[in-house]
Amino acid sequence: MKNKSTFDFLKEIREKAIAPYSKFRVGAVLSTKKGKKFTGQNIESSSYGLTICAERVALFKALSEGEHEFQQISILSDARDFCPPCGACRQVLMDFAPDIQVVLYNEQGKKVVYSLKDLLPDAFTPERLISSTQIK
Ligand code: THU
Repeated sequence: MKNKSTFDFLKEIREKAIAPYSKFRVGAVLSTKKGKKFTGQNIESSSYGLTICAERVALFKALSEGEHEFQQISILSDARDFCPPCGACRQVLMDFAPDIQVVLYNEQGKKVVYSLKDLLPDAFTPERLISSTQIK
């Protein structure tokens, strides 16, 4: 990704979306704290509910490579404006990267930055499971 802006990189990544049903492409770039980058695109199934979002593809690729320290996730979609991650992606990001920054780009290359905690306040987290009264 040398000499390429994140926006240009995202446009390239979005091209690889497999979205024949919705025709709505999403690209995501997840950066680790050490600066490694993992990409993701939405991948749709003919059984629509089995579709996976770009954000989770990027996250699962990184986790499967042993990465656990994340800095930010950047997202560009086919929406006219910024496209924040869906609820399911917010939850999975919260499980694995609670302190991550979420950077949204629009088609003009403008960006807005959120913290995941702002996008998913009072979240259900692994710590709540661990605090179960049923676990002795
Ligand atoms: N999609 C994502 O990839 N990320 C999101 O956060 C929202 C939705 C995808 C799923 C589906 O392939 C298409 O966008 C339309 O919902």
